[in-house]
Formats: sequence, structure tokens, C-alpha cells
Amino acid sequence: MCGIIGYIGREEATPILLKGLKNLEYRGYDSVGMATKSDRINICKGVGKIDRAIIDFDLTALKGNIGIGHTRWATHGVVSVANAHPHTDCKKSVAIVHNGIIENHQEIKEKLKAKGHIFSSDTDSEVIAHLIEEKLEQDRRGFEKACMEAFKELHGSYALLAISRDENRIVAARKDSPLVIGLAESGTIFSSDVSALLEWTRKVVYLQNYDVAVACKKEVVFHSLMHDEQISRESDTVEWNAEQARKGKFEHFMLKEIAEQAETICRAIQQDDTVVERVLEEVKKAKGIFFVGCGSSYHACLTGSYLFSKVAGVHVNVVVASEFENYEHFLTCDTLVFAVSQSGETADVLDAVRAARRRGSRVIAITNVIGSSLVREGDELLLMNSGPEICVLSTKTYTSQLMLISLLAYALAGRKEECSSLIKSLFLEVCNLTSKSMHEDLKMLAGLLYQKEHIYMIGRGLQFATAREAALKIKEVSYIHTEALAGGELKHGPLALIEEGTPVFAFVSEDNWDKTRSNAEEVRARGGMVIGVSARDDEVFDYWIRVPECRDFNPVIQAIPMQLLAYELAVKRELDPDKPRNLAKCVTVL
Ligand code: G6P
Repeated sequence: MCGIIGYIGREEATPILLKGLKNLEYRGYDSVGMATKSDRINICKGVGKIDRAIIDFDLTALKGNIGIGHTRWATHGVVSVANAHPHTDCKKSVAIVHNGIIENHQEIKEKLKAKGHIFSSDTDSEVIAHLIEEKLEQDRRGFEKACMEAFKELHGSYALLAISRDENRIVAARKDSPLVIGLAESGTIFSSDVSALLEWTRKVVYLQNYDVAVACKKEVVFHSLMHDEQISRESDTVEWNAEQARKGKFEHFMLKEIAEQAETICRAIQQDDTVVERVLEEVKKAKGIFFVGCGSSYHACLTGSYLFSKVAGVHVNVVVASEFENYEHFLTCDTLVFAVSQSGETADVLDAVRAARRRGSRVIAITNVIGSSLVREGDELLLMNSGPEICVLSTKTYTSQLMLISLLAYALAGRKEECSSLIKSLFLEVCNLTSKSMHEDLKMLAGLLYQKEHIYMIGRGLQFATAREAALKIKEVSYIHTEALAGGELKHGPLALIEEGTPVFAFVSEDNWDKTRSNAEEVRARGGMVIGVSARDDEVFDYWIRVPECRDFNPVIQAIPMQLLAYELAVKRELDPDKPRNLAKCVTVL
């Protein structure tokens, strides 16, 4: 999973590429590189995050008004300079950047090696540059044609950009990895996502699978790889603005995005009534409903399954998207699949959606990104309206997903208006949860916990789903091993792990007070340190995080202090909360 950027136009490419790469860094940050075209192809690349790279090797020195850049999250090949993009052909006449996986790279590589091509990396991507070189030699119809012939041989997923030493153009192609084109005043910018383009333009074209775009200094022409013909693509205007994608007064995007939640939870329920009605009809007539997602989105699905059951009396199956294939044989044309994904580009989710479509099932997409693949592949769309989320960890988009799913559950029970007013009344509660005093309390708690090796979390029902999300937040960002358990499961094994001082968070609601309290007692009796997250204090708690009792909305209310605590643990451990090691915001590989 990587970020790619390209520029062709009147300006020097390098400053634009550098800014774009910085904006895309959340997609991958183990190595970075750029290529520009002057009278030759100039390349600079290396290992590390972009700020370091600018200092360590002179990225800023590259000249030319055509260029491509890449920020990498390693899949094929270790993190090394050789494996960093851009990659070139043998003669350095072509340079490419790629996000995705070329599944038949081994086969192509063998063929090209037999023809004398010399490879200098372990990546799957390098074959693209050599394949273009080969096509240029076989058929001298120029760079654009050579690219198209080469792309036709690729299997797998790709968003890729190619430049040539001999021609003033960028050739781009997309299949199953995101790629968007910004039509700016000074030229054309290619990017893996819209938020990286907002500095220059809000006028964009979303490339579709098998599209090829050829940009020269004056225009962009589109072709279909499938049908070998020129096609037209309409431009869209993005509603997000550049300010939303900046940190502003905040130290980190994570903190900014946590603070935005009072507003984003209200925006999430501003949905087109007719779409909501259609979705409700689909639910009512479905024979079998699945919720699928990954990471935090999966936790939103899990919460949703409890809410659908409790509020609407509707049974849904919740499946981690990467495990969905094991349930495929249950799918029919009467099955309804809710695919939940902030980015709308997570490969595991898209794979599940495609499986559902193959079986004729209907798909409701819940996503935050309007031009994403999930939007195109779903039958109905519910947009989360959270604005761009830049931090790798989901915070505001998680709570927006919860709100949207709650709205559906309440609407199914004929209580939509009640739900809207309850959510609006959460505004002040959420403001309090992100207030300075709450933050100070959590900072203090982080001081007590940041050197712990293990943290456990327990809860029942909705609180179990919340415990899972809280554990994910803490482990992702602080690298402290954190595990969530259904309160009742503690005694069936994990209790053996509790020692003197082991921290255990207990998420408690009035609905399950007694049972969870007795689980907390079990911990306390073994010397564990119990941290209660609830509306009232109790003598079983060694430490108490006070949150209001909001019943069905507890998952939102209890998640927010945990997001702040995770943030503070990362800061205390001197880690970058926006870019945890080994992780990427949007994972476009299976
Ligand atoms: C990645 C991110 C997680 C996120 C998951 C699902 O693994 O690091 O934070 O929850 O993808 O992302 P999605 O965009 O599908 O919600």
C-alpha cells in the first residue's frame, strides 16, 4: 500500500510532488522517491519518512515540469533504496511509480530476463518499466502505445504513472487501486487520493478500472484498456477543502480528528431520506444480512449487530472482510451485504463486495470517500460525511459509522426522529469528553500506564465491541499489547494472565452493571488494577474514567476517552500518533 503523485504543467514539478507526497505520507512511509524529466530522467529515492529524506538526500534538486513521486509501504521486497520507487528500465528511458500488486510479475520477469533485461530490485513493480521498454523496442509507435500494450499484460491491481525521457507526457492507469486526477490551473496532478490534491484544485476526475489517462501539458485524454478506444470522463467538484486536510492549531491530525467528533457525529446522520428509506426496504425484504469491514470498521459492524438486534430485532451476521469468503456459499440474490469502509478502498472489503455481487446479493456501501471504488461497486450509498481523515487510526470516521448504523437500527424500529434528537443531544457530551480537563486526566492515566507491557479490556454487549475498538486504538498507536475480552470469557482462560498491577479496563453500562462489575471483582481479587469507564464510580475501580450514561450511544461516548488515552500513550512513548509503524491508512492489498 503506497501513495503515488504526478505533475505535468507550467510549474517546476518538484515542489508540487514534495507537498503531494507529504500529504500522502499516511498511506505508506518506509521509503520515498521521485523522478522528473528534463533532457533525461532524474531520479532520487531513499529509505525513511519524507522529512528525513529531504535532508538526507537532495530530493529538492530535481528539475523539470514533469515528475512522478511515491511513498512506499513495503509488500514485495524489504525496505531498501533499491526497492523504493520510482523504478526504471535498463536504459533509464522510462520511470514508473506503482501502488498495488502485479500478480504475474514473476512470469513477466522471467520472460524479460531471457531477453536480456537486468533487474535491480526485488519488487513486483519494476517489471512494468521493463515491459514498457520492451514494447517500445518491439513496436515503435511511441511511449503511449507502448504503455498501453504493457498494461494489458499486467494481472493484479495497479494505480501507476509512467514517464519517458523522450516524450512530454505522463501515462497513468488504474485497476483496483485508487487514482484521481486533479485539474489545476497550472497543470494536471495525479494522486492516490483527493485529500492530497486539495492544495491546488477541487476539480477532479476519478479514474475507473482499466482506464488509461495520458496527460500532456495542455490536455488529458482517456482511453479504455478493455476496449482499446478513446473514452470521455466527466470531472467532479470535491466538497472537501484544503483547510480540512491541515492540522491547524493541533499538534497531530489524530488530536484534531478526535476533537472534530462533536460535529462529525451530527453530520453522519444527515442523510437523504429517500436513500435511507430504500435501504430500510432492502433490510426488510432481505433473507440474510451481513455486515463486513476491517479494523475499526469491523468494530463498527460488531456494534451494529448488537444494535440491530437490540433496537430493531433484526439479526445480522458480522464478518471480518478477509474471512468473508468462508461464508460465500450462504449468499443468494436475497442476501443483503453492508460493506463498511472509511476509505472505500480496502482490498479485503472490495473482495467481499465482489463475492457478494457474483452471487447476485445486494450491497449497501457505507464509506467516507465519495470517489472510492466502494461507491461505484455498491447498489446504495450512505456517506459518512466526516471530512478527510488523515491520521492512520480511525477516530472520527469510526464514530460516524456508529452513528449511521444506529440511525438505521432506530429507523427500522420506527424511531428515526428519536434517534436524530438523541444524537444531537450528544453534541455537548462529546465536547465535554474532548475538553481540557478530561484530556489532563487521561494524560495522567497515560503516565501510569505507558510502561506497562500488557493491558486488558473487558465489556459485555455493546461494551464488548467498544472494548475491542479501544484495544485496537491503544495497540496500533502505542505498541503496548492490548487485548479485549467479553467480560464473561475472562474466567475461561485469560484470568491466568492477571498479575499484581495488570491494568484491566472495564467498560460498564447500566444495562450490564452487575455482571461486568463481578468480572471486575475477579480481576481485583488477583491483584489487577481496574480502570472503570462508566457513568458512576464504584469501589471496585482503582481508577475511574467518568462518562455519561447514554445507553445505545455508549459506544461513541466510551470510545472517545480511549482515543485520547491512546494518543497520550503514543506521545508519552515518543511515537508519532499519525503514522504508527508498519501500518497504513488504506490497505489496498489482500
Ligand atoms: C487499515 C487502517 C485501520 C482501518 C482499516 C480499515 O488497517 O490502519 O485503521 O480501520 O484499514 O479501513 P477502512 O478504510 O476499510 O475503514
